[in-house]
Amino acid sequence: MYYYLKCIECGAEYSKDEVIYTCSKCDGLLDVIYDYSSIELDMEKLKTECPSVWKYAKLLPIEREPVTIREGGTPLYKCDRLAEKIGIKELYVKHEGMNPTGSFKDRGMTVGVTKALELGMKTVACASTGNTSAALAIYGAKAGIPVIVLLPAGKVALGKIAQALMHGAKVLSIRGNFDDALALVRTLCSQEKIYLLNSINPYRLEGQKTIGFEIADQLGFRVPDRIVLPVGNAGNITAIYKGFREFKILGITDSLPKMTGIQAEGSCPIVKAIKSGAPEITPEDNPETVATAIRIGNPVNAKKALSAIRESGGTAESVTDEEILEAQKDLARLEGIGVEPASAASVAGLRKLVEMGVIGRDETVVCITTGHLLKDPQTVIEVCEEPTVVDANIESIRKAIFGNNK
Ligand code: F0G
Repeated sequence: MYYYLKCIECGAEYSKDEVIYTCSKCDGLLDVIYDYSSIELDMEKLKTECPSVWKYAKLLPIEREPVTIREGGTPLYKCDRLAEKIGIKELYVKHEGMNPTGSFKDRGMTVGVTKALELGMKTVACASTGNTSAALAIYGAKAGIPVIVLLPAGKVALGKIAQALMHGAKVLSIRGNFDDALALVRTLCSQEKIYLLNSINPYRLEGQKTIGFEIADQLGFRVPDRIVLPVGNAGNITAIYKGFREFKILGITDSLPKMTGIQAEGSCPIVKAIKSGAPEITPEDNPETVATAIRIGNPVNAKKALSAIRESGGTAESVTDEEILEAQKDLARLEGIGVEPASAASVAGLRKLVEMGVIGRDETVVCITTGHLLKDPQTVIEVCEEPTVVDANIESIRKAIFGNNK
């Protein structure tokens, strides 16, 4: 398969055999470029096979047997009760928490870790707010290579640390935030023969673009009016837009969705850039939010994300922690969809934008819920009522359920 890497800023080109993350001339972000005219898709297979990351292998930059634990193929739920509460006609939730490690990061890691092997790299590393480290630990274990992860101390949800530890990664909790951890791991990977698997690595995003393929696929090759998703390091919004663009280039679909990114109020450099019309973001030094997965002040993929949002006619909005936690409960209680706080930002953002009149009530909207509820049990304990403790007899049980009336 023919493809190469190209700098989005200066257009410099790099061979697929190079281990490179950003442009060596101008430090710009790289994109994977294909010759679409040479890609032949089996339309019969595309229309009948169940969705999964590797269903779309002809659009992925991998030539060897993949390191896979069956990622992708996550459910797209039609959410009528939630739609009614928010006041829109057609709402779907793509629940990426149903991936094997409980987040969308698996899509990027099945491709990224396979690429590491293809390039002959024998150790992999990342910085993470949690989910990326969990996914890397698991795919590294499956590939049989060592994994190093750098986490912001005290700011990573319990379930994610549990995964990184149990699957055997070398876990370093650094005294600093995610942005500090990312800068450090980039330095480490430039000094040692260690493959960097943060989303600055363009191959990660190739895996994640399959979310876009799957949504179109699951809607019968129809494109929704809008995609709403949480934004942290800004890789996923970029990747999903690329997926939709590729399906359109290949003539599989005929339109593009408005990409709509949601950030937490205490951590929203992308939102500020979109609202002010600035060409670049201004990094935030002390990002803070209950949604620790998206507690990021200096998103590395900002340039790509700003173009995706602007080019698609989308927007970006911020939501408060309270709005996030309310949306988390609504997803759980109206639709049976258990998500971690960052994921609920998508629904909180949708609600706010509908109320503001920015999103039309007749739009078909897909919210992406990026991570599973069990990733962050601590926040659940803090926001839900405690269990009622009762004596082990039927009278006490009845009293606890019905009060004194029955
Ligand atoms: N939702 C969840 C649950 C995440 O874990 C992340 C990112 C995002 C949304 C944002 O996606 O960075 O592509 O804009 N988590 C990364 C991590 C940073 O280290 O796990 P993005």
